[in-house]
Order: sequence, then C-alpha cells, then structure tokens
Amino acid sequence: MTFFSRSEKQTLNFAKKFSKNLTGGLVLGLVGNLGAGKTIFTKGLALGLGIKKNLTSPTFVLMKIYPVSQHQPIKFLVHLDAYRIKRASELTAIGAAEYFNRPDTITVIEWADKIKTILPKKARLIKINLQKNNLRKIIF
Ligand SMILES: Nc1ncnc2c1ncn2[C@@H]1O[C@H](COP(=O)(O)OP(=O)(O)OP(=O)(O)O)[C@@H](O)[C@H]1O
Ligand SMILES: [Mg+2]
Repeated sequence: MTFFSRSEKQTLNFAKKFSKNLTGGLVLGLVGNLGAGKTIFTKGLALGLGIKKNLTSPTFVLMKIYPVSQHQPIKFLVHLDAYRIKRASELTAIGAAEYFNRPDTITVIEWADKIKTILPKKARLIKINLQKNNLRKIIF
C-alpha cells in the first residue's frame, strides 16, 4: 500500500497509527535516501508506543534501546541505523541481532537494504521515497 505524506507532521501521524498494528518480534526495515524521513517515521512509531523520551537518530551510536511500558507484551523499541557501517557483521558484533524476533521487542532498522544478509526472513520493509519538497511516498 502507499501513503503520500506532505509534511513531517503527516509522516509522524502516519507512523503513530501504523504502530498500533505492530506485534512483538517484528523487525521493520526502513529504506530510503538521506533525508527521506526514516528517523521521523521511527519517531512517530515511538510516539505511538507511548515512548516519552525524545527519539534521536542512532547514526553514530548505531543502536538505541527505548523502554516501552504501555504496550504489553512489548517492552523495547530497538532503533538501529546501518548508514555508517561497512558490513552487516558490525551490527551483530554489538548484539543487535539478539533483539530480532524477541517477542517483547520491535526492531526498526534504517538503511536496512545495507544489511540484507542479517535481516530475518520475516522482516517487513517500508520504503520512503523523496518526491519533491516535502512530499514523501511511503510504500508499506
Ligand atoms: N513529508 C515528510 N515526511 C518526513 N519528513 C519530512 C517531510 N517533509 C519534509 N521532511 C523533512 O525531511 C527530513 C527527514 O529527516 P530524517 O532524519 O527523518 O531522514 P532520514 O531518512 O532518517 O535521513 P538519514 O538517512 O540521514 O538518516 C526532516 O528534516 C523533515 O523535517
Ligand atoms: Mg535517519
């Protein structure tokens, strides 16, 4: 399916609604160019999951883990960013893959296309295409 977002706010709201259907163990890969809105989308998911802490890009730390308290059985949102890594093993080295498939965890991976080799088969991909100006095409 496709959703056209015309602003950061619309992407936030879309992701917020999208989060309501997520089940534990899900690995969500976000694919899209620089500035497409992958972090904004993840921010919306966090808002939807009731995460109070401001979600920021994990580009430099590679992985951030946010506790989720109001969405049993989900206890964690794990946010990964593969932009800076050269090989997928860099993410396994920091223990990222141990969160995949955990029934109490939702994992979101920016630049998931860079680490295809370690993505679980059941990972779901979302593509965000920068159209022009503030227009984004979200394919989910
Ligand atoms: N419709 C839209 N949806 C999302 N973001 C938008 C939209 N229109 C404009 N923007 C802007 O685009 C930028 C998206 O930034 P964001 O950090 O989410 O991108 P990203 O895909 O995570 O980039 P990176 O590859 O650097 O991690 C923000 O500055 C946001 O304000
Ligand atoms: Mg980002």
